[in-house]
Amino acid sequence: MSALPPGRVLGIVGGGQLGRMSAVAAARLGYRAHILTTEADGPAAQVAHAITVSQYDDHDALRRFADAVDVITFEFENISADGLDLLSSIRPVHPAGAILRISQDRIAEKTFMGENGIPVAPWHAVETRADLDRAADALGYPFILKTTRLGYDGKGQARIRSKADLDHAFDTLRPHPLVAEGMVRFACEVSVMVARNGQGEISTFDVTENRHRDGILDISLAPARIAPDIATQAQALARRIATALGLVGLLGVEMFVDHDGSLRVNEIAPRPHNSGHWTMNACPVDQFEMHVRAVTGLPLPPAVRHGDAVMKNLIGPDDMALWPRIMATPGLLAHHYGKAEARPGRKMGHVNVLFPAGGLPGEFGVNAALGPLARPMDKEGD
Ligand SMILES: Nc1ncnc2c1ncn2[C@@H]1O[C@H](COP(=O)(O)OP(=O)(O)O)[C@@H](O)[C@H]1O
Ligand SMILES: [Mg+2]
Repeated sequence: MSALPPGRVLGIVGGGQLGRMSAVAAARLGYRAHILTTEADGPAAQVAHAITVSQYDDHDALRRFADAVDVITFEFENISADGLDLLSSIRPVHPAGAILRISQDRIAEKTFMGENGIPVAPWHAVETRADLDRAADALGYPFILKTTRLGYDGKGQARIRSKADLDHAFDTLRPHPLVAEGMVRFACEVSVMVARNGQGEISTFDVTENRHRDGILDISLAPARIAPDIATQAQALARRIATALGLVGLLGVEMFVDHDGSLRVNEIAPRPHNSGHWTMNACPVDQFEMHVRAVTGLPLPPAVRHGDAVMKNLIGPDDMALWPRIMATPGLLAHHYGKAEARPGRKMGHVNVLFPAGGLPGEFGVNAALGPLARPMDKEGD
């Protein structure tokens, strides 16, 4: 596979912030980004060379989009199998549709992991109410029930604490089928971003430690504060998954680290990932450039990091009300997604804070470095 020459057009399916930051990275390398998006003034459309505004199931629009670009990638995973087939029949699509089909469906994902010897939490497919009773018996309480498709930011899932929760969870989580997962009492959550190009070159970023709040990623720390041998194992797991998938592109792998140091994969996303945003300021080549390089057939430089970093998401109107103060605070490296409306729970931007390599501070130091975004220190894991 020879590299796409500068001046050519990278098609990106999806118009959100991941598309925006991928389009900017593409522009830095001399490519033009053409975005397929439902929003004419969305985050990616604002920085794009061209846009096709359409629903993702409009085959005429998909055809027009594919005809206008040289290679196609994604920031939005939930395009239909038909749509993927259509795009792939016109232009190269990276990552391949088969990979999206695995990551779109939690059961397909867990089955793939099982077939490849990748550890995951115990799970049971749930189609009927009787399946749910059997899953509850097998897993014990508490456990988690999730929709197999279209979940994000903790949506489409329920914690089941006792038998009394079963009916309500089964009735509200739609569409079925669902998947029941054993509750992992993890010590921390981490993720690994791995890129692989068509020549089989692989670059793996350092492990990130992730903290969620209300089901949404709040803070990422790099490097994760885990033992070096566990970090090495996490990176090796991510590389194994990328290779087993035959990935061409970028993949985010979310994992749980147990108290005994063992790793379990939670889910994968074959695209740039929120937990990789720290790379934008802490790495010479960030996850977005790595993504663009992988899908355009460019060589992949090593995913080195020149310092430690903390990333904090800016969510909803409360965080955005702090924007002028964020702008006025030295050391907060801010990224705005250009969204007009700051609804509660909506990701509006993020800030990165850099530290010298090896200088990632403890809780108080991280909080202090966040300046106006610092919050009262309360319980661990909040
Ligand atoms: N089996 C599990 N055990 C413990 N916590 C879990 C489990 N599954 C999910 N979680 C928690 O819920 C969060 C969101 O779940 P995830 O499956 O990653 O869905 P989403 O698509 O919303 O990111 C995880 O980051 C983790 O904190
Ligand atoms: Mg997740």
